[in-house]
Amino acid sequence: MNIILMGPPGAGKGTQSEKILEYCSIPHISTGDMFREAIKNKTPLGLEAQNYITKGLLVPDEVTIGLVKERLSKDDCKNGYLLDGFPRTIPQAEALQVLAKEISRPVELVINIEADKDELVKRISGRRVCPQCGNSYHLQFKLPKTDGICDACGSELIQRKDDTIESLNVRLDAYENQTKPLIDFYANLGLCKSVNGLKSIPDVFNDIQKLLDEVK
Ligand code: AP5
Ligand code: MG
Repeated sequence: MNIILMGPPGAGKGTQSEKILEYCSIPHISTGDMFREAIKNKTPLGLEAQNYITKGLLVPDEVTIGLVKERLSKDDCKNGYLLDGFPRTIPQAEALQVLAKEISRPVELVINIEADKDELVKRISGRRVCPQCGNSYHLQFKLPKTDGICDACGSELIQRKDDTIESLNVRLDAYENQTKPLIDFYANLGLCKSVNGLKSIPDVFNDIQKLLDEVK
């Protein structure tokens, strides 16, 4: 399956990606995760992306499109892909149309997770992540077994640098102005389906599962 997961910051894209991958094994391509890995490893890409990400701004299109182009050309994407957080601008979506055609894997479904600002603020401010393995938790909604410690690898959990209220406001603006227009872009192609992201994590997944079953 060739799927895009869309939604504002904190809507639950990463959380639902984990569940989708248990259901259908396809590569998970999260541009946010790829940038964070590059930042951790201090690569030239990471050093460039860091300035934008910490402020909550989008990384320039040419950098992001180049990164996804390289990733989609890998062998594992011959069986499909789950894009999380890409595309985020109209030029990215147009570039993806071309890239997807090149690998004969046209986008089949765009899942748009909806949530309002109050809920997004609650989710982002309570999120804690593992700097080692990337697992994500929430102080209220998804507690680790031991306070402050990653269940999977035992590392100490941290808050993402862009999870401050200042960065979140910039990220929400970027979403409204640059990403939200993609809902119409994909609706015009008959591909966009929205789910209510305010439900519990398993209930959101139930709704997503129904959409996946229609495409499978
Ligand atoms: P990215 O990492 O993609 O961040 P984002 O889009 O801001 O989204 P988040 O990862 O913050 O939220 P999420 O929707 O994954 O929510 P999660 O599941 O974690 O991008 C980061 C930055 O990289 C961007 O700002 C930009 O600078 C750059 N970038 C990335 N892609 C780019 C692109 N294509 N172009 C340009 N720049 C790009 O959930 C959040 C919390 O809520 C968690 O704690 C979770 O446990 C909890 N939760 C989730 N679902 C529920 C639920 N249903 N009920 C209760 N709690 C829930
Ligand atoms: Mg995420």
